[in-house]
Order: sequence, then structure tokens, then C-alpha cells
Amino acid sequence: MRKKLLEYKNVAGQFHTIEGKTNTLNDIDLTIYEGMSLGIVGESGCGKSVTARLPIRLLPEPMFTVTKGDVIYHRNDTPFHVLKTKQNGKEINKIRGKEISMIFQKPMSSLSPIHTVGSQMSELIRQHTSMTKKEAKEHAISMLERARVPRAREVYDDYTFQLSGGMRQRVMIAMGVRLLFADEPTTALDVTIQAQILGLIKDIQREENMALVLITHDLAVVANMVDEIAVFYLGYIVEQGTTDQVLKDPKHPYTKALIDSIPTLHTNEPLKPIKGSIPDPYSKITGCPFWMRCDKATAKCRKEVPPFVTHENDHKVRCFEA
Ligand SMILES: Nc1ncnc2c1ncn2[C@@H]1O[C@H](COP(=O)(O)OP(=O)(O)O)[C@@H](O)[C@H]1O
Ligand SMILES: [Mg+2]
Repeated sequence: MRKKLLEYKNVAGQFHTIEGKTNTLNDIDLTIYEGMSLGIVGESGCGKSVTARLPIRLLPEPMFTVTKGDVIYHRNDTPFHVLKTKQNGKEINKIRGKEISMIFQKPMSSLSPIHTVGSQMSELIRQHTSMTKKEAKEHAISMLERARVPRAREVYDDYTFQLSGGMRQRVMIAMGVRLLFADEPTTALDVTIQAQILGLIKDIQREENMALVLITHDLAVVANMVDEIAVFYLGYIVEQGTTDQVLKDPKHPYTKALIDSIPTLHTNEPLKPIKGSIPDPYSKITGCPFWMRCDKATAKCRKEVPPFVTHENDHKVRCFEA
């Protein structure tokens, strides 16, 4: 039996801005289990980052409000209702960056620039163990070595601004957490570093049984990295299953279109961009979020939001025509 780590239960959320309201998350139903690796894929603006930031309350509140549903983090087998606590209260601070962490395109934001790498790591270690300062230092250095940081002992005394982007990613990964959200972690890095970082994330995820949520707009990036994939479109999960189910037997027209638009999976065929564009986030859409771009759309699709239906072997699809 897989153990639940984090659950999103039918979560809906909106941004309220001077331009109006956006239905940014719609009925997000997702469970992350201990040690699993999940890819969240979808075009820009479909709610991937908002989904990742919600459980550690990194969204601007009250501009962003959850209108429905619940997010539950299973901590020491006790369910912790993340949305029912204060945004910067004690409880969430025990989890944020310590048990659930994020690495971003610009990893600087999650490490303090005014403290050394070592002091940040040691503090974290000492909060969670009874180690002495000296023991915590040695432990931190071994964590850096494990994350393949060269000259780990020297890096321990460096300030984070002295490190390159790739090196900062490594430090974040070395901090070791139960659940890591990697939000487009390699988009800003060059291709060689990109491959190294993805390899490192994968190794540590396996060795440490850390759960990983890898977020990307690029389906090709997740193909070799994760066990399961959730495809997002306009704040809805439109398809979810194992990596094989989603890539080899895609059922949602949007997933099919995404796959057709990857150059590397179809060598001889010309690239097919997805037709149409993502609607303006402030526009009010009725029915299936994808119907305007879908060749199979019927009158029903324009009126009703399809339910998220489980097909064989837990393969889930939100489409009337699938
Ligand atoms: N700071 C913000 N203010 C207003 N709207 C926002 C803000 N951040 C995100 N949104 C809205 O949420 C949607 C999803 O954003 P995001 O989760 O960042 O998308 P992505 O899938 O590219 O990570 C955007 O299309 C936008 O409408
Ligand atoms: Mg994003």
C-alpha cells in the first residue's frame, strides 16, 4: 500500500485583481504518495506553479483565495489541513522548506543571500535532530557531497550569491526533504547543466525515497524522469496516469496534441503545433476548458464540464469523447 503524503481534494481557487477574477484552479483532485515521482505538464498559465505553491502557502493572500476543497499534508501520520492555518504561522513554517520544498528557475529565492550555505543547512539539521554544531556541520558537508557538490567543505562556507545557478540547485537538493516540487528547475540553465541537474534530482529521489513533483511545460523532459504524469489545462487536470499510460495511450485530445507537438518523439513527421491559443484567464468559459481548440467538441462539451473519469488501471481522463 502506498502511503499518502499530500492530498488536494477538489480544490478550486481564484485570483482577484483589478482586471477581475480568474478561475486559476478548478476541481484539482490529486494525491502524492511517499517516494513517488509525478510530472505536472501543461502550457504556460495553466496553474502548475499555483498548484505547487499552494501547500506551502507561497501564494499572495488574499489576492489568491481557495473557494472550495482542502489540502491535506500527512505529517507523522496526522493529517494537517494546510489551508486552515495562518499563512506564516508556526505550523506551516515547520513544513515549508523543511519537509516540503521547492526549487525554482531562479533558485536564489529559496536560499537566503545573507547567510552562508553552511549556516542555513546546519540550522535546518539542528532543528530536526539533536546534533551538536560540529556534528551538524559534518552532516551538512556529507549532504553536499551526496549532491555531488565539488569542494563541498569550501562551499559550506560560501554565501549563496557566490554560487552558480546549477550549484545553488544542488545545494537545494542536498537540503533533503520529504517532498520536492521542482518548478521548471532547468528552464533557465544550459543544456549540459540541465541534464546534470535532472540526473541528480532523479538519483537523490530514488536514494532518499523523496517524493518528487517535476513541473514543466515540456513533456519530453518528464518522459524519463517520472512514474506518473498529470496533464493540466486551464486549471483543470485533464488526464492522469502512469507515464506509459499518458505517453503511449493518451486519451484526452489535449494530451494527444501535446505529444504531437514534441519534436523528439516523432522523428520524421513535421511538427504539429497545437491549434488555437489558450483563452484569456479573465474570460468566462462554460463547458470543457478545451472545447474551443478541440476537433471532437460536441454541443455537450460546450455546455458541461466533463467529470474526471477513471478508466482501466486508474488512468483518469476528463473528456466526454475519450
Ligand atoms: N500573481 C498573480 N496575479 C494574478 N494572477 C495570477 C498570478 N499568478 C498567477 N496568476 C493566474 O494564474 C494562472 C496560472 O498561473 P501559474 O500557475 O503561474 O501558471 P503555470 O502553469 O505557467 O505555472 C495564470 O494564467 C494567471 O491567470
Ligand atoms: Mg509556472
